[in-house]
Amino acid sequence: MLLETRALTANYGQFRALFGVDVTVDAGECVAIIGANGAGKSTLMRSITGVLRNEPGMVLHRGESIGALSSAEVMKRGIAMVPEGRRLFPSLTVEENLLIGGQMRKAPGPWNLAAIYDLFPILRERRRNPGTALSGGQQQMVAIGRALMSNPELLLCDEISLGLAPVVIRDIYAALPKIREGGAAIVVVEQDIGKALAVADRVYCMMEGHVTLAAKAGDVTREAIHAAYFGEAA
Ligand SMILES: Nc1ncnc2c1ncn2[C@@H]1O[C@H](COP(=O)(O)OP(=O)(O)O)[C@@H](O)[C@H]1O
Ligand SMILES: [Mg+2]
Repeated sequence: MLLETRALTANYGQFRALFGVDVTVDAGECVAIIGANGAGKSTLMRSITGVLRNEPGMVLHRGESIGALSSAEVMKRGIAMVPEGRRLFPSLTVEENLLIGGQMRKAPGPWNLAAIYDLFPILRERRRNPGTALSGGQQQMVAIGRALMSNPELLLCDEISLGLAPVVIRDIYAALPKIREGGAAIVVVEQDIGKALAVADRVYCMMEGHVTLAAKAGDVTREAIHAAYFGEAA
């Protein structure tokens, strides 16, 4: 087991956002986390990546509790995040943004500048441009590339298609199988159920801080997803 959460809870002050969440990710696997706005998907990502700390035994990486580690320490363990909203360094060029990802964790693996540019050729053309001069889709590609530069074992992608044009979403989703071929497991957080099911081996649905469905992507019915996503029968 690469990653596991056990009865994970998370709070923002007095507000509880996660109520005992259990998810697992195996090495090399692609897992989708779906759910409506506010379901707790980003909170789950923040709990895994050390943005939100948690109690011993709630988040395990290769069987070791990591809930007390900082984000930098989690990344050094090979867990990289493509955050919701991309968060590039605006004053830096595409290439500088990518290189920072490689500085965060120096690890052997398939990903380096050349491999990122092969994955997203438009970034090679734009490598001297500042992050702000890019389209939303290109910024998303930089954010993915920056995370890959650390050669992660696990890539967490929070809403990578949100707000992007369909043609760009297609390009970004086309990169995911290539990223898996490089050996990384992937978690995709997604509001679009169809996209999530197309790319994932397994899917979890969240609602109001709970996991309401855990299933193999190939086994799940529309009715089951509808009930888990909206909390009502289809
Ligand atoms: N920084 C925050 N402070 C207070 N409440 C928050 C914060 N971030 C998220 N929440 C609340 O936690 C719940 C889960 O949010 P979030 O994890 O962002 O959901 P999702 O990513 O599934 O849309 C929501 O009710 C949201 O309003
Ligand atoms: Mg979110």
